[in-house]
Amino acid sequence: MKNKRREFLKTACAPVVLSVLGIPLVAACSSDEDAEEPLAQGSIEIDLSQSQFRALEGVNGWINYTAEKLLLIRVSTSEILAFNNACPHQGNRNGWSLQNNSFICSYHGREFSADCNGSLQCYTTAISGNTLTVSR
Ligand code: FES
Repeated sequence: MKNKRREFLKTACAPVVLSVLGIPLVAACSSDEDAEEPLAQGSIEIDLSQSQFRALEGVNGWINYTAEKLLLIRVSTSEILAFNNACPHQGNRNGWSLQNNSFICSYHGREFSADCNGSLQCYTTAISGNTLTVSR
């Protein structure tokens, strides 16, 4: 028990620790990593043959590729769109679902069109064989 508490205090951000202690704060827990934009290196290549991308095999298949902070959706046999997975409302990167060609953020239920004409930041993509290139 003592070790668990010590581990919690080491890993929890300060506002969480203070609120557990009954000290109210108006602050959010985030790290610099959360604030980083996708494609920090300018572009990435994704091997679509990896099992984690299996959902992208069929049209309308999508994934939240959190490792690269990208929402990916296949819109045709030859095109996959890529978006910044930060919600335009308050930046949530998880909790996405897809309905009627819109991504829905579970935090406050807002909908964002799953095309490059909406509010989600869209990136340039190209498919060559099993390689998807996503670039700024
Ligand atoms: S953070 Fe996404 S709807 Fe509010």
